[in-house]
Order: sequence, then C-alpha cells, then structure tokens
Amino acid sequence: MLESVCVRVQAEHDYEVHIGSGSIGHLTSMLTGASQVAIVYQKPVLQWVESITAHVAELGANVLPIEVPDGEAAKSVSVLEGCWKRLGEFGFTRSDAVIGVGGGAVTDLAGFVAATWLRGIRNINVPTTLLGMVDAAVGGKTGINTSAGKNLVGSFYSPAGVICDLDTLATLPRPDLLAGMAEVAKVGLTSDPTILTDLQRDVDSCCDPSGDLMADLIRRAVGVKADVVSRDFKEAASSAKRSTLGREVLNYGHTFGHAIELVEDYRWRHGAAISVGMVYVAELARLAGLLGAAEVATHRKILGSLGLPTSYVPGRWEQLLGAMQIDKKARGATLRFVVLTGIGEPVELTGPDPQLLLAAYDAVTA
Ligand code: GLY
Repeated sequence: MLESVCVRVQAEHDYEVHIGSGSIGHLTSMLTGASQVAIVYQKPVLQWVESITAHVAELGANVLPIEVPDGEAAKSVSVLEGCWKRLGEFGFTRSDAVIGVGGGAVTDLAGFVAATWLRGIRNINVPTTLLGMVDAAVGGKTGINTSAGKNLVGSFYSPAGVICDLDTLATLPRPDLLAGMAEVAKVGLTSDPTILTDLQRDVDSCCDPSGDLMADLIRRAVGVKADVVSRDFKEAASSAKRSTLGREVLNYGHTFGHAIELVEDYRWRHGAAISVGMVYVAELARLAGLLGAAEVATHRKILGSLGLPTSYVPGRWEQLLGAMQIDKKARGATLRFVVLTGIGEPVELTGPDPQLLLAAYDAVTA
C-alpha cells in the first residue's frame, strides 16, 4: 500500500485531505480545542464511528453520535432539523465540531449542519465510500435534497479537514465501489487522461481497494478536484462572463445524471446515473459536431468495463427535460452542459438546439 499522502485545498480557508491506510490517525490534530464533537453517520459505518470515538476520547472531548437514515434519505429537512435539535440539547458552541462519517449523503448533510449551526462551526469529513473520497467530501459543497430537486438547498462551506482512510473501502459493497469509479472515470475523461490509460490497461487492479493502483487513482482524482476547487471554490467562473471553465467541469455528466436521479426518485446510485449522464453529453457533443464517434465509444467502453450503465429507458424525455431545467447549471430557460471537444478538453455548451437534446436522449436509450 502507498504511504499516506496529503493534498491541500485552498478555499475560504486552506485544509488538508489525508489519503492512505490508517490516515484516521490525523483526526485528533483537526479537533484541537473542541470540547464536544458530533459524529453524524449511518448504521453501516458503525465500526468506524467506534474507532473515531476512541480518537476523540483521547482529547477528552464529549462525543455526540447522531445516526441518520441510510442513503439519500439522510439529506432531508426533517433529518437536518433533528441534527440541529441534538446540537441544541447538548449546547454545541462555536469551538465544537461536527464530523460526517460515511458516503456523500452523510458528508453533504453533516457539512450543512456545521455550516448552519451558529452560522458555522468546524466540520471534518471522514468519507468511507470511494465516491465520497474522490468527490463529495472534498470541495465544500454541502446541502440537502428537497421535493424541488437534489442539492438545491445548501451552501459552500469548506471542511477543516478530510480523512480518506483507505481501510474503510475494504468493506464497501462492490456496486458502491464501482459507482464511485464513475467519478474517477469522470476525472479521467475531463482532466487527467492517464486515469483512462490505467482503466483501459487493468480495470481489475484499478477496482481493487487493497491495491496501490486504486490508492493512486484516488490521490490523482482528489488532486484534480483540489486544484479545480482551489481556483474556483464557489463555481463563480460558471456565472461570470469568462473564457475558461471553472469548477463546473466537475459536473460533467451531472445535468442528465441528476435528472435521472430525480426521475428515479433517488433509487439509482449517483455514480450509475452520472455514468449514463456522461454518455449522454458525449452523444450531445458528437451531435453538435464537437466530439468524434471514437471518443463517444471510449466513454461507453470504459464505463461499461466498470460495470456501469451506459443507457437509459426510452419514453421519459419530458420528465428528464423538466428535471434538467431546474438543474443548478441552467440559467433562466437556457440549458448549459459541460461537454468535451476531445478527451481531457472540456468546454461549455450553452442552449443547444432542443432537437439535439432529444437526439442525444435517443442515442442513449436502450
Ligand atoms: N461534485 C461537484 C463539485 O464538487 O463541484
């Protein structure tokens, strides 16, 4: 296994992402001065909560475990309110901390709890899923889902630190691990084609959580994310007049992917939905004359080799279009997509012809 590595993120404050086996040991240094620590978690990661509790106890701080429902059900207004209630009962102050332990849903929620309690207390993320490590837990996007859509309520709020202890991946169910690989592949397609080279050469080693290659892929994916977030923390580049693509590049495949998640009532894994979403925007770019058929085939080949879906059911276009129109990347009635002009060459496509949008849907229907 590789040595533990540290990736720095520069946002409203700088913080470190520790990646490696046993990196949970870095937790105590992030909790200096806290006398109470809430641990927001879901039942499947109880063993990690126990380990974290032992580390917090070393500091003499009180631990408040807050179990939340599994999956996206954690990211609801009522669960959020329940967390606020517990912090109130235990008198959490500005020097205290909230740790999110688990997948992206939990770290999104825990981050939003921390962002909103007393207008902001310390938040530390301990992602235990691949998707959480390479995307959700890093970058300071926090929030919940509402009936209006996924992540429409939230805030940009950087954690004090992130710990990606690779030992947690040993017990991650295989479908969750592969769903996380969708975000790794996304980084390869948009920013670091060497990731695609590794995936094409030895997909099995890439997906082995005990191996060096997966550890290295995580480090490279986090490195790209840290770099993008450090340049454009609040996705401001996407709303200003600009010539370069900022943080929005991280949303590659997410407009259509989020629409699938909403239409499927969040029963699809995020990684599976954005896998189809990436094929959708690849087809859209091809139809718009921006991307070649060979690159579209590369999307299908790589995502398919990871066991991820690359197509969706027909007959849902109206629902999907409606969902895309409330996506955060839309501006008024204009839809905007991150597309590629080549592997590793992302650009923005604004207001594509509705016929192209529909044709791209037809191209991804099974
Ligand atoms: N998951 C996309 C971002 O963090 O911006």
